[in-house]
Amino acid sequence: MTYLVTGVTGGLGTAILENLAKQVPTKQIAVLVRSEEKGKTFADAGYDVRIGTYSDQVSLEKAFAGIETLIFVSGAPGQEVARADQHRNVIAAAKAAGVANIVYTSISNGDQSTAVLAPDHVVTEKLIKESGLNYKILRNNWYLENELERLKAAVAGQNFVYAGGDSKVGWALRREYGEAIANAAAQPFIDNKIYELAGKQINYADLAEAIKEATGADFDVVSLSVEDYKASLEKAGLPKAVIAIVAGIQNDIRNHQLEVAYSNLEDLLGHPQLTAVEAIKEVLG
Ligand SMILES: NC(=O)c1ccc[n+]([C@@H]2O[C@H](COP(=O)([O-])OP(=O)(O)OC[C@H]3O[C@@H](n4cnc5c(N)ncnc54)[C@H](OP(=O)(O)O)[C@@H]3O)[C@@H](O)[C@H]2O)c1
Repeated sequence: MTYLVTGVTGGLGTAILENLAKQVPTKQIAVLVRSEEKGKTFADAGYDVRIGTYSDQVSLEKAFAGIETLIFVSGAPGQEVARADQHRNVIAAAKAAGVANIVYTSISNGDQSTAVLAPDHVVTEKLIKESGLNYKILRNNWYLENELERLKAAVAGQNFVYAGGDSKVGWALRREYGEAIANAAAQPFIDNKIYELAGKQINYADLAEAIKEATGADFDVVSLSVEDYKASLEKAGLPKAVIAIVAGIQNDIRNHQLEVAYSNLEDLLGHPQLTAVEAIKEVLG
């Protein structure tokens, strides 16, 4: 089996690659990067480096030549080509290049989510299902790393401020998602599969308690309405576009967008995920 992993210069792709390489010989693994320069460390490590960008379907068709399984890490929003169009390019190129299997990193409840970050994933999941490729869709919940600024502020004795209400989130470490995704990719493609990957579901108040336990820090926990949270971000001078995303995510959490009915994370890991206290200690380094 030949694999190609995208997004390897990023956090999730790094974790996927590291874990895939424990199960598959390096010479059977290719990586997609956007420039020769970005590929250098991967070439030095023995990976087959392919150059391409999600923005250019032709570059991807060349990059995917001879690949059986494509591990497609979702791209970053806000680029010159809209992310949904980039993802359309990836799937079309995979088909044109004769790729058999696709593994895609989606979002929780990725066929019906109304979260601010969801529309591109909803489109991509649909395109994958219509493509005729064998697929495994892995719907990632929320990285604990996304909360790093909130964690650091609390540890520094500042208020732990959130607007997600009492709703639950399935935080897990990015490396845990990466390990689970690599394990899924290394297993045979018999039936098409959709996995929800989420850590134990807890709310922000629980997370704050875990921070106190992990660090011994003393701080106040402040639950705001989304409107008051937005106002606090405006007061702090954040750009409007950033406020829209940051407050939008808190609003999504409040509206249960990151709550899932089940999780395949620990089954795919083959071991328990870290506890919140252990994961917080790791993220804080
Ligand atoms: N579930 C969550 O909590 C959560 C949080 C954040 C993001 N995400 C999603 O998960 C993905 C992976 O997360 P991450 O933390 O690993 O993100 P990241 O560190 O920002 O890495 C993104 C990767 O995608 C690559 N990429 C971006 N645009 C590309 C393009 N046009 N063509 C080819 N490659 C491109 C980047 O390559 P370059 O080095 O060339 O830029 C990088 O390797 C993100 O892209 C986003 O879709 C999920």
